Amino acid sequence: MEKQSIPRHRPQWWRAITWVVGAVGLVGLARLHRFAGDHFGLSITADAWVGSPYGKFPLENDPFHFLPCTNSSFLPPLDDPQPQQSWAARFDPNADHWSWGQPSSNGMRIDDPYAGRGIYLCGYLDLPLDHLNGSETRIVRLAVTKFQVSGLAPLGAPDASFNAGRKSARTMIIEPGGPGDSGTSYVWAAAEQLSDRFSDGQFDVLGWDPRGVNMSLPAVSCFPHDVLRDRWSLLTRQYREVTNPMHQLEIADAMNDAMFYACRQRVGDFGRFISTASVARDLEAIRKALDEDEVTAYLTSYGSGIGQTYANMFPDKVGRMIFDGTEYVKDHRLLGGFGWTSLGNTTDAWHDGFLGECINAGPRWCALAKPLNKDDPVTLAQLEARMAKLLRSLITRPVPAYTEHGGPSLITYSALVGALYPTMYDPNGWPNAAQMLYELEAGNATLTATFFDRTWGHNPTQSSPSHPSTRELTYLVICADAYDAPLPEDGLRWWDQLWDNMTTQSWIAGNSRFSGVLPCRYYNKYWSSPAEVYRGDLNHTLKTPVLLIAAVYDPATPLRNGKRLLGDMGRNARLIVHHGYGHTSRWDRSDCTDLMAKAYILHGILPDEQETDCYANKKPYVPV
Ligand SMILES: *[C@@H]1O[C@H](CO)[C@@H](O)[C@H](O)[C@H]1NC(C)=O
Ligand SMILES: *[C@@H]1O[C@H](CO)[C@@H](O)[C@H](O)[C@H]1NC(C)=O
Ligand SMILES: *[C@@H]1O[C@H](CO)[C@@H](O)[C@H](O)[C@H]1NC(C)=O
Ligand SMILES: *[C@@H]1O[C@H](CO)[C@@H](O)[C@H](O)[C@H]1NC(C)=O
Ligand SMILES: *[C@@H]1O[C@H](CO)[C@@H](O)[C@H](O)[C@H]1NC(C)=O
Ligand SMILES: *[C@@H]1O[C@H](CO)[C@@H](O)[C@H](O)[C@H]1NC(C)=O
Ligand SMILES: *[C@@H]1O[C@H](CO)[C@@H](O)[C@H](O)[C@H]1NC(C)=O
Repeated sequence: MEKQSIPRHRPQWWRAITWVVGAVGLVGLARLHRFAGDHFGLSITADAWVGSPYGKFPLENDPFHFLPCTNSSFLPPLDDPQPQQSWAARFDPNADHWSWGQPSSNGMRIDDPYAGRGIYLCGYLDLPLDHLNGSETRIVRLAVTKFQVSGLAPLGAPDASFNAGRKSARTMIIEPGGPGDSGTSYVWAAAEQLSDRFSDGQFDVLGWDPRGVNMSLPAVSCFPHDVLRDRWSLLTRQYREVTNPMHQLEIADAMNDAMFYACRQRVGDFGRFISTASVARDLEAIRKALDEDEVTAYLTSYGSGIGQTYANMFPDKVGRMIFDGTEYVKDHRLLGGFGWTSLGNTTDAWHDGFLGECINAGPRWCALAKPLNKDDPVTLAQLEARMAKLLRSLITRPVPAYTEHGGPSLITYSALVGALYPTMYDPNGWPNAAQMLYELEAGNATLTATFFDRTWGHNPTQSSPSHPSTRELTYLVICADAYDAPLPEDGLRWWDQLWDNMTTQSWIAGNSRFSGVLPCRYYNKYWSSPAEVYRGDLNHTLKTPVLLIAAVYDPATPLRNGKRLLGDMGRNARLIVHHGYGHTSRWDRSDCTDLMAKAYILHGILPDEQETDCYANKKPYVPV
């Protein structure tokens, strides 16, 4: 539900390849030659690792089986009788194919282009499917990616002053949320930046795909191909404002039944093993595999729900944990709770943020602030009325559009509001979104249609990925966590009320949040009770207090929830109230927030006050 707009990263191996082709290719060869001598003294046969100046991977006794990541680091399937051997065979000894971090600011050394550069390591961790049932032999295989800041140690390198290849004193574990977002993708997108931001580049960063997600196995996708999910979503994503609500509810409800039936066929009883408590136990297993006494972590959005659960299940293992974009995870035990608890200031984010800051920034930076009549500056009230009129007009009649890539297209109310809500997550996208609405209002729908083209899971111009995306995992987690909430006995009537309430409270988020919880009518039809749920309090005495960050205009994890969590946790937490826009403190940055977070992660220093206000460095729209 909580779409993390992780910027698409260019695969790291591509960077390496680019520069093999460039001038450095020769240096690479020379380096290989230089280190080859070290190997040839050893008794090696035709092993694949001949030629790796850094020795052989995976290292013995590495619980994560880390290899330097290449484009073939995909996990062995669960039915592979010899996964370790299959995995080891994926080791590619050519260091030019590996994914290295950015060269450090003091420049690349010409004799060794990898010196001083971090390395991306790919691995996996096999864990029990059911942590609590000793007679259950099935496993989950979790994909794990680590950015090791010290890089790798060349074999035979002089050891003086050379710290390369070591794990850092603490490893910062990251988790982006969802449920269903990929922690390995988060590492690719942000590990280097996060290590700098919270530890001055001193701590390694590790992310994992939670059970059911992305590369982890088994993977929860209930559609055999992404294009089939796109087709399906056209029917489900009909917003309340454009439908006969009871009629649409009957359709969506029947579709949810069909969807969960498909999930059951494709993943069997796995739906019992994906609840947040099971994921918290996975996190504990990751801590043990890291061989660290306590957890250091930066957990965002629903990741903070994993964190709250973990901290109260394993209070004496809590090291330095930041929950940014803080949920109040107890709400998720209630029917529909995951939906309504995320509605807080979403319409304020639109009104004060997207529109208000547009007016403040003025027409130079925000298209919607351009006067419609010369010399007549746009006011916030006018702009709000204009946008309301534009949206209302789409309820009556959608606007036809065309793009070269997408062909004929339709700008509907549901699709536009569905695109505007995630736009509230990151103010850096606001100038483009404002331009889009400005052109749409002026009668040109092309940019809006282009915007929509990017929202599909299937991209016809690219070859299909080998596995469909794991989107349905989201619903399974939400519903498993609330499996014992009693269902109302009046059929869909209660849900109609809830849908009404949610869309009344927030026209921008209500529909999309509602669709995340409606499937829960069917969890118990296809799965018996989850292997474990956490139903305890959130006020256990922790080894170390945690640091909460909640943003005042957060469109997904309202400040209210951060405050309620602080209320429960008391002296076991501190809260930074981040006065900025977007979801979490990640997009609208504040030096104040970042300094406090860094002091905590790097040195364990907590803010004195229970609650501290921090302000964003800049305003949206206006470049620095
Ligand atoms: C993987 O990378 C190698 C070079 O590192 C390249 O030759 C190969 O085509 C790539 N494979 C895919 C599937 O991209
Ligand atoms: C434990 O696992 C075994 C093997 O799958 C299963 O037969 C049994 O029902 C499980 N017990 C519980 C309490 O889930
Ligand atoms: C895993 O995530 C990456 C990045 O978001 C994506 O490109 C890839 O298709 C995903 N794989 C699966 C199997 O979902
Ligand atoms: C967010 O909503 C709460 C009430 O739920 C309100 O007290 C608060 O002022 C709002 N915040 C902003 C920034 O508007
Ligand atoms: C409509 O908008 C598109 C994209 O911004 C632009 O390329 C095109 O020229 C516009 N068409 C007209 C008729 O203004
Ligand atoms: C909807 O809101 C009304 C008024 O606040 C409340 O009485 C009712 O219980 C709510 N219903 C649901 C299903 O949330
Ligand atoms: C924790 O919270 C529960 C319920 O809110 C309360 O009954 C209990 O006394 C609290 N425990 C501590 C140690 O504060």
